[in-house]
Amino acid sequence: MASRTVLPALLVAAVLPYVNAATVSGTPAQTFSGIGGSGAWWTIDLFQFPEEVRQNVSSLLFSQAGLGLSSYRYNVGGGGVGVNNPSRAPETFYVSPGQYDFSKDAAGVYFLTEASKHGVSQLTMFANSAPAPLTSGGTSCGSSYVDGSGAAFGTFLADVTQHFRDQGIMINLISPMNEPDNSFSDCGQEGMSVLPWKRAEVVNGLWDALDAHGLTDSVGIIADETSWLLQAVPEYPFWLGQVTDKIAAIAHHTYDYPSDVGYLAYLAVAHGLAPGKQTWQTEVCCTGGNADGSGKSFGANYDPTIVNALLFSNMVFQSLNLAGEPHYDWWTLLSSTIGCDPSQDPACATTPNGNGWNDGIIYYDPNFKTNGNHQLYVKKQFWTYKHFGNFVKPGTQRLPITGSGSNTNMLAVSNSSTIVVLAMNTGESDSSLALNFPQTVCAQPGFRTSATEDFAGVPAATGSGSSYSLSLAALSLTSYIFRMSAC
Ligand SMILES: *[C@@H]1O[C@H](CO)[C@@H](O)[C@H](O)[C@H]1NC(C)=O
Ligand SMILES: *[C@@H]1O[C@H](CO)[C@@H](O)[C@H](O)[C@H]1NC(C)=O
Repeated sequence: MASRTVLPALLVAAVLPYVNAATVSGTPAQTFSGIGGSGAWWTIDLFQFPEEVRQNVSSLLFSQAGLGLSSYRYNVGGGGVGVNNPSRAPETFYVSPGQYDFSKDAAGVYFLTEASKHGVSQLTMFANSAPAPLTSGGTSCGSSYVDGSGAAFGTFLADVTQHFRDQGIMINLISPMNEPDNSFSDCGQEGMSVLPWKRAEVVNGLWDALDAHGLTDSVGIIADETSWLLQAVPEYPFWLGQVTDKIAAIAHHTYDYPSDVGYLAYLAVAHGLAPGKQTWQTEVCCTGGNADGSGKSFGANYDPTIVNALLFSNMVFQSLNLAGEPHYDWWTLLSSTIGCDPSQDPACATTPNGNGWNDGIIYYDPNFKTNGNHQLYVKKQFWTYKHFGNFVKPGTQRLPITGSGSNTNMLAVSNSSTIVVLAMNTGESDSSLALNFPQTVCAQPGFRTSATEDFAGVPAATGSGSSYSLSLAALSLTSYIFRMSAC
């Protein structure tokens, strides 16, 4: 008899999804400013593609039908002197002090112009190295910053920025040193080391040059794009306090894939040295691991599946939610390091392999020059990043989600009329979230990305008034939309 009463209960438990309960706060946390990625170094290759493909790339990145990015990072070249990979060796405008050749780097300028035309509001110009003639070895890699060259380097960056702004391309952020902890002496890319105690000099040189152009109010400096939070902590005391009032934000990378505790420890140090300054995550890529974010480590791995797409979404949630950061950039938006031959193997682009790299969101054939294959390969991560690019718009605000069923993989963003809830389920079974809102809202249809869906339409959350139930399919990211009014 006992088994006949227990059995139905077990069946119910197996069929009904697990329900979590949480509450959306009515008090906004940070205001978002940008979701983006970088234009290094694929622009050099893509500029050689047919115009219709270049236009398609621009639309995939910058239009709302695509990712809808609001931040784009233009890599201002150092001339590629010494760099052994021609696809990673951007030309420089620098000729000699005060002399520039703006016909150079047509490839990079093409996609910067596209970002500008599409209305991308945060346009950052970042340097991996000063122009080769200004570096210690006269090269664009394996060299270091020359003491006392801050004014010359700053003048170059400010003059180039003025040039673009005069063309209507409103660069509004400059990062003068990307990963200054590494000179990239293997010369697989540009790089220039800047010792921590020299970094204030670089910022001061740039600030003075911007000031000479009257640009300090319209162009912000971000620094210092250290690769690891672990490295930023001991290095910040050497420069940050000296130039806090001259930088717009503290820019960092997260290549050490910090734990929550590690991220918070970093923030305590950054905010201790520079009270009130925002921190921005401006570059990351290149790890495999699990959907819930565990098992990350830097290295070769190409995973175009929902697992890797959710892993990287977890990192975005960590920066926006846990760290409260207003701005997030992926590393390079396109990449050819697919690790297999898409022209020969139809399963190449959609199957994980251990030779490629998770450094891009859209991929292209590394052999396009010889085989003429100009197809674009969109990873699942494209569709998950689209949730952030489409909904975490400049000016929207985060509404914290609290309660026993909340976790860092859910985010509520609001503007004057709408609340969008982005929520991820990294588990293997469906679940649902009971969510209370600070006011009456009306649920609208949403969008879901899962193993089988690419930002596909889903029905509105069910409920009424201020209480709704959101179904979260196994291994998915869903954006549910709520109008802030009665239905
Ligand atoms: C743009 O590229 C994507 C990805 O390869 C493809 O699905 C789409 O059809 C292309 N669009 C146009 C207009 O070429
Ligand atoms: C508010 O956000 C929604 C959802 O992203 C969007 O459709 C709407 O255009 C936004 N409204 C304003 C005024 O920006």
